Amino acid sequence: MNTISNSVASTAPDMGDNLTGDQVKELLRANEELKQLNARLSDAQDKLMQSEKLASIGQLAAGVAHEINNPIGFIFSNFGTLERYLDDLFQMLSAYEQAEPALAGTPVAAQLKALREKVELDFLKEDIPTLMNESKDGITRVRNIVQNLKDFSRVDTSQEWVLADLHHGISSTLNIVNNEIKYKADVVKEFGEIPDIECLPSELNQVFMNLLVNAAHSIQAERGLITIRTGTEGDTVWVDVEDNGGGIAKENLGRIFDPFFTTKAVGKGTGLGLSLSYGIVKKHFGQIDVFSEVGVGTRFRVSLPVQHPNED
Ligand SMILES: Nc1ncnc2c1ncn2[C@@H]1O[C@H](COP(=O)(O)OP(=O)(O)OP(=O)(O)O)[C@@H](O)[C@H]1O
Ligand SMILES: [Mg+2]
Repeated sequence: MNTISNSVASTAPDMGDNLTGDQVKELLRANEELKQLNARLSDAQDKLMQSEKLASIGQLAAGVAHEINNPIGFIFSNFGTLERYLDDLFQMLSAYEQAEPALAGTPVAAQLKALREKVELDFLKEDIPTLMNESKDGITRVRNIVQNLKDFSRVDTSQEWVLADLHHGISSTLNIVNNEIKYKADVVKEFGEIPDIECLPSELNQVFMNLLVNAAHSIQAERGLITIRTGTEGDTVWVDVEDNGGGIAKENLGRIFDPFFTTKAVGKGTGLGLSLSYGIVKKHFGQIDVFSEVGVGTRFRVSLPVQHPNED
């Protein structure tokens, strides 16, 4: 048997010619293995970036939700009590008003009349219930936002694969990004019947958020339209996010999922939204497709299996 140095010395000058079929096969196999390792490494890198971004958004959402939740809780409950007290006061007031004729001609009657005019009692009686209703609306909205933040970040659940309703995730995400969208586009939901799917809900919410914000940013007209559709095809569920914005130039279509690819102005976009979304969808054994025409609009389709294929 040759020693290693012997064999290297004897094969080094014209290695290609001396390689046996088996050695070529072995090299090809090693090369394939390296390629796979490389792909796994870049996957791991994607995941790391994605989980860092998710973690910071999740923490922020969780912190805000927690801080607001307590005060809004007691404001809401005090408000209910205040409404009841006001009802009682109004009842008392109308009893006084009914008793007023009995005081006619007395100095107290004149004082009461002057005071009634000064405080504009009739206006107050109309305006107080209106103010109360408006404020209650506002508080209810804040409570819903906090709930949405909690749903979005799923702070109360661990990062575990669960069966979840995508419509719920899409709707709470829509509430979160509403501010970014509402001045630019109308949003239409055309939800089909879809089963719960095996997923990490907060990560998928991140995908929907990216697609919705991108759609809103693409709107160039005075006001645009964003349509969210869902449906099933075989064992997969799909979610379409379609806009009638500026579209994506052909030469950019192949690059939009690349990390840091952005056509937005410096400081406006990091170019990470779609690459993170791509990683998340892949982790869910799904796929993300894009159909776009410049000047007409863009449709992203996220397709996800209802259940993961057998891990083997
Ligand atoms: N709906 C869309 N319509 C038109 N162009 C789009 C749309 N979605 C994505 N793009 C293009 O793809 C690019 C990459 O999108 P991506 O979400 O990855 O990054 P970004 O939006 O630029 O920045 P951010 O990291 O803030 O999301 C965008 O800059 C834009 O050129
Ligand atoms: Mg984006």
